[in-house]
Amino acid sequence: MEHLKKLIKEAELDFSKCKSLSDLDHTKAKYLGKTGPLTEAMRGLSGLSKEEKPKIGAFINEIKKSIEVALLERKKLIQDEELNFQLKSETIDVTLPGRKQAQGSLHPITISMNHIQNLFHSIGFDIATGPEIEDDYHNFTALNIPKEHPARAMHDTFYIDKNHVLRTHTSPVQVRYLKDNTPPLRVISPGRVYRVDSDATHSPMFHQVEGLWVDERVSFANLKGVIQDFLQKFFEDESIAVRFRPSFFPFTEPSAEIDMSWNDGWLEIGGCGMIHPSVLTQVNIDTEKFQGFAFGLGVERLTMIKYGVSDLRPFFTNDIRFLKQFEI
Ligand code: PHE
Repeated sequence: MEHLKKLIKEAELDFSKCKSLSDLDHTKAKYLGKTGPLTEAMRGLSGLSKEEKPKIGAFINEIKKSIEVALLERKKLIQDEELNFQLKSETIDVTLPGRKQAQGSLHPITISMNHIQNLFHSIGFDIATGPEIEDDYHNFTALNIPKEHPARAMHDTFYIDKNHVLRTHTSPVQVRYLKDNTPPLRVISPGRVYRVDSDATHSPMFHQVEGLWVDERVSFANLKGVIQDFLQKFFEDESIAVRFRPSFFPFTEPSAEIDMSWNDGWLEIGGCGMIHPSVLTQVNIDTEKFQGFAFGLGVERLTMIKYGVSDLRPFFTNDIRFLKQFEI
């Protein structure tokens, strides 16, 4: 009996050394298992007298119960520890600042294009686009620039094949739009154009906005008014003046280069004129009844003036440090 009594202390010690539930399970078998000392003691009861049997039996059961209680206590402790450990390792510090999502920004040319479209849209202009790979007819012939015409030499053209070019200006959209629509009409056409040219102020690809207004009474004065109004709004400066310099385009007559006043000087920003009657005739518009004006503006040029950028190339080299400065 003394020997069995010692088992309680022994078991408690052994249990306290167990670090995990599986350890504990293992150790439990040593005391309460089929081959453990208690089971063996129970078996030994058969050799005892009638009086001793229940007394010893009850004693063994007491021991067993005490060991079971010690086991349960230890089990609960281990479970608590495991839970605490899990809670600790899974905590989230809600006071940490969140990770910021880097935000992109619009390209300065896109900002300008959107701005230009909004301004013209607000005074009733539609917006139309045309293909960048254009046929010879729309890029040249329909614009009064027949084959062998010296004006073709003004355009340093990228040829796709004998009959197709990368459009050298947005003016071919005039022809396409006039063919599909009947006057009165007002439209602008923004887009990319291409010329064989590359230096600080010329890029082989750049952007133009074509403008077109055809109605029964549209004058050169209206043209100047529309351009001036646009520039004053685009640059948010009411003091901007416009100067027309006589020029030549085969598809307008009379024609002019558009200059705007800037820092005590003049900067050229595009070309314009009254649409040549032979262009209107090409698209079956009655030139006795209708006339109109057209203009073409350089978007890079306007953007460079607006933001004070002196070199065209950074617009196309995609240096983030440059582009980031135009976030709106
Ligand atoms: N298409 C001409 C150019 O690219 C500009 C222009 C447009 C001139 C419309 C007159 C009228 O140089």
